[in-house]
Amino acid sequence: MTLGVILFGYFVTFVSAEGVADVVLSCALLDEGGLSGMAGGALFTRTQATLVLRDVAVSSDQTEETLTPFIPPSVPDPDFILLEVKVSSPEIPNAEMLLHADCNEQEVMCEISRYFPRGSQETPGPAYFMVSISVEGEEFSTALILQTLPVEKNHSGGETLIQNKLGLPLSQSGSVLTEVAFLVFSGVKSVSGPLRSDVLLNCGFRQQEMPSTQEVVIEWRRQHRGQGQKVLEMKTRLDDAEGSTLVHTERPGSAMDVPLVASENNASMSLTKLRISDEGTYICTVSIGLFHAQQVIQLHITQPPHVSLSEQKLVLNTKTPQMLSCHCSKYYPLDAQMEWLSSSTGETEPTVLPHQGSLTSHRLHGDGTYSLTSHLPLPSSITAGTTITCRVSHAALSSPLSVSVLVEHPEPDSYWFFVGLLVITVLFFYQVMR
Ligand SMILES: *[C@@H]1O[C@H](CO)[C@@H](O)[C@H](O)[C@H]1NC(C)=O
Repeated sequence: MTLGVILFGYFVTFVSAEGVADVVLSCALLDEGGLSGMAGGALFTRTQATLVLRDVAVSSDQTEETLTPFIPPSVPDPDFILLEVKVSSPEIPNAEMLLHADCNEQEVMCEISRYFPRGSQETPGPAYFMVSISVEGEEFSTALILQTLPVEKNHSGGETLIQNKLGLPLSQSGSVLTEVAFLVFSGVKSVSGPLRSDVLLNCGFRQQEMPSTQEVVIEWRRQHRGQGQKVLEMKTRLDDAEGSTLVHTERPGSAMDVPLVASENNASMSLTKLRISDEGTYICTVSIGLFHAQQVIQLHITQPPHVSLSEQKLVLNTKTPQMLSCHCSKYYPLDAQMEWLSSSTGETEPTVLPHQGSLTSHRLHGDGTYSLTSHLPLPSSITAGTTITCRVSHAALSSPLSVSVLVEHPEPDSYWFFVGLLVITVLFFYQVMR
């Protein structure tokens, strides 16, 4: 199923007791609206829905903050979509981030869709939802599978209301009661590293109590420019029993820590000696029992350029035109800006030269990195004492990199000194050899 991304603004929290809080999220319920089977998956209808995460564990300092209480509708409304989730077991890792997001007015992306576990009969039994939550600009992302709880009989003898859109029974507070059956989370949305470095792509999962003989399948795939390929696949059991683990690696240097999968439900994958060809979108899919859910992480390679000038020393020559070159080499990605500046003695801020040099085309190296050179014919207006700087900006550099050379006076005095020294040396050897 393709999930789009939708942004929703409002968002409230409600501290209910010491150390726990309720998080109320405004979500989009994606509904294929009977159009399933049509290509593209773009024909979802989106309906506003409210998700209440009950009893999210928070640190005590959080409870002091001013939080707006969530008020459920006074009369249950069968048109209102309210999903209530008990999140105490399993817990949502780092769910506190959702509280911080509220305080920092960050946007929370939340999407809900119906989920059909593999091999499950649709009726009777619980209904399932897949919920994706992430926080803008924060390293928080999770995919939850929610399972509906049976609704208690109405004591006042009235009819149990049925939610109009979902066709599910409502609790007395007008919500669809659920619990977390399974979740996959990642602490990061994107990772970057230089060439030949090692990275860890973070992915973890949590599930309700399950027999420890339960099989877990973890698959890491990489997608780039419309092409996908498997990187690593692992089958193991929650008890990591001897001989129960199978690992299949497509990329040499990709690995998972098998004992960590069983002991901490940690499905992170490490990649060693990064190459340009490792760049892409990584998808961690965890399958356990009837459920499977995934997380997506971007991997970027950022290799800073090495910058150098063609001349270490530049002596002004007014007779012949002079050329200075700036080499910016072995960087990635492609975009690099080169700029020539000059500053005279006493000037604090260098000024950008009106006539910038001519750039060569990008050269591509065997390891996928690029190089670029800029040739600057020295402007005739340049005087001795001027400093010429080549400034390079690149995504892999936190601030631009500069290399400079000072334009020097031609020095006739030292020239005659060397000629004199040479004459004396020749005369000396002439005397010795005689
Ligand atoms: C998995 O283990 C690694 C190494 O100990 C750690 O850095 C990472 O945060 C863990 N991830 C999860 C999801 O538990």
